[in-house]
Amino acid sequence: MEYCVETELRYRARPMSRSPKNVHSEEAAGIEAALAVRFRRAILEVLGSGQESPDPQIRTSGDPKHGDFQSNAAMALAKAHGLKPRELAERIVAAVDVSGLAGPLEIAGPGFINIRLDAAALGELLASMATGDLGVVPQVRPHGVTIDLCGVNVAKQMHVGHLRATIIGDCLARVFARLGRRVHRENHLGDWGLPIAMTLAALRTARVNLDRITLADLNAAYRRAQAAGQSDEKGLAAARALHSGPHRIAELEAQNDAALAWIDEAKSTLLRLQAGDAELVRDWKKIIDCTMREVFETAVVLNVILGPEHSRGESFYRDRLATVVEDFMEAGLATEDAGAIVVKFPDRERPMLIRKSDGGFLYATTDLAAVRFRVQELDSDRVVYVVDARQRDHFKDVFEACHMIGWDRTADGEPSELVHLGFGAVLGADKRPLKTRSGENVTLVSLLAEAVARGEQEVRSRAADAESATHGLSDMELHAIGRAVGIAAVKYADLSLDVARDYVFDLDRMVSFQGDTGPYIQYAHARIRSILEKAGIEVPFEGAAIGSATFTIAEPGERDLALTLLAYGGVVAEVARTLEPSRLCAYLQRLANAFNGFYHDCPVLRAAEPVRSSRLALCDLARRVLHDGLSLLGVEAPPRM
Ligand code: ARG
Repeated sequence: MEYCVETELRYRARPMSRSPKNVHSEEAAGIEAALAVRFRRAILEVLGSGQESPDPQIRTSGDPKHGDFQSNAAMALAKAHGLKPRELAERIVAAVDVSGLAGPLEIAGPGFINIRLDAAALGELLASMATGDLGVVPQVRPHGVTIDLCGVNVAKQMHVGHLRATIIGDCLARVFARLGRRVHRENHLGDWGLPIAMTLAALRTARVNLDRITLADLNAAYRRAQAAGQSDEKGLAAARALHSGPHRIAELEAQNDAALAWIDEAKSTLLRLQAGDAELVRDWKKIIDCTMREVFETAVVLNVILGPEHSRGESFYRDRLATVVEDFMEAGLATEDAGAIVVKFPDRERPMLIRKSDGGFLYATTDLAAVRFRVQELDSDRVVYVVDARQRDHFKDVFEACHMIGWDRTADGEPSELVHLGFGAVLGADKRPLKTRSGENVTLVSLLAEAVARGEQEVRSRAADAESATHGLSDMELHAIGRAVGIAAVKYADLSLDVARDYVFDLDRMVSFQGDTGPYIQYAHARIRSILEKAGIEVPFEGAAIGSATFTIAEPGERDLALTLLAYGGVVAEVARTLEPSRLCAYLQRLANAFNGFYHDCPVLRAAEPVRSSRLALCDLARRVLHDGLSLLGVEAPPRM
């Protein structure tokens, strides 16, 4: 297995070979793909068909004066065939058939081929995009995709890290589903093991009524249980070395004895839970329900698709762990080491522990079972783990071990790509991990409440302006818009950056209607709706079209908007290939700008027919693409803002 370190914190485990039908980079859609097909055909004709599929290197042109696209293939391929780049460019130009797509091709500089789409082709492409699926090309694959998202721990409140694991995972799941892939959202809850048993034991000893308990109580019990299990061996040793006096030493000894006794109690609770003790199991389910109630409520606030049907926690794999260890032993991939069982890797010292000397299994053992299940039973040719970047070594070990034993192949032998999409931290204004004033972790619930309040404040202050489209709306409507704005602000700010990067949580910037923000995109969408309404059109609430039209593209503003619209399908495919939601955000930003440029330069309502209808149709297509793109981010598009 080869690891490609893309940033310090992000890497990807790649199967060593893959069959052509599974090469994700082959997927592209839209106009660039259409040009690539034509150019590739021509290059093969010129160079002989013995080649591996040549890359026609179609790029958007840096300067619209030179055309809309260019092919840089001649520069890349000439040398290997003993040709001058310009010479090869001439032969490609002679061979390529761009009829119905582009006007005459031009060769520039050392051998760039400049491509200018012709206006009639643009019009036809837009019309087929508008009547079809907005240019999104379905990916027909027999296998599914698994997204590991959210990953909360039972009895613990969600914090900002879970924001990232949830919304990035949700966005990717939506993108894959949009492309027609079968998607499994897997919420790998931490719902099994000693910490849970400790919490259970603590609650039961204190005779807490589990039917009435809140997550905050549960969280406090969790922390108390952890603290009670903390022995202070070091403190004791130091106290002895410093001759701290018999009182201090006796105190520490008593504390340590109590901690050990407490751990023993927790271990016996765990054993009884594992053995299926009915009463314990019932209580265990209650604390899971209590935790998940808040998780699902938060998912609703966040507009994220996450329900009980996506919960498959660590406990799901409990009966498979012994087999995991046996299989690794049988394959000769695991060895005993001082009573424990470890997997060793050829290129590093650090082994992976899969069974402790006391017989207990580990986080890693569960993840090995989970990979096997996801690849072989859920039949996924890609498993994406949206998990904190600090778990990088864990996933490196798990993926590599799965490769060694062959669990990264589907039942029909297809290699599956295992990816840890490790995300960075959310920081406060002081550039340190976000904390409350009293130094505690910020709960996700409080963070979102603040975002909603800020969004509402922004929306209400704008609505006070008599010119605003929201002026005079009811209190309830303003509340709903404000909430959508606040949540969009937080989600977009997160999704628009490199996943691996840390970022500073700055609500004031995020919630602004200007700049690279979610509300800016939402606002562009709402503005187009109001333009269409002013034209007397009844605009559908979802992404449906207002009607069919002929597109005539003449002005630079129209051309720029048209080309931007036509790029949409390709962008969606790229997000799936690269697993980078930021590309979709950047695209929507570009589209909103292209629309604003178009609307500034090209009158719509005052234009004469047939230009008016064509421009209205451009507006409508832009509205639908913004709506669709926002829905892939999991961001609402309020009709009025
Ligand atoms: N519960 C884990 C944590 O809080 C995250 C789970 C991530 N998924 C996984 N398959 N390991 O760290």
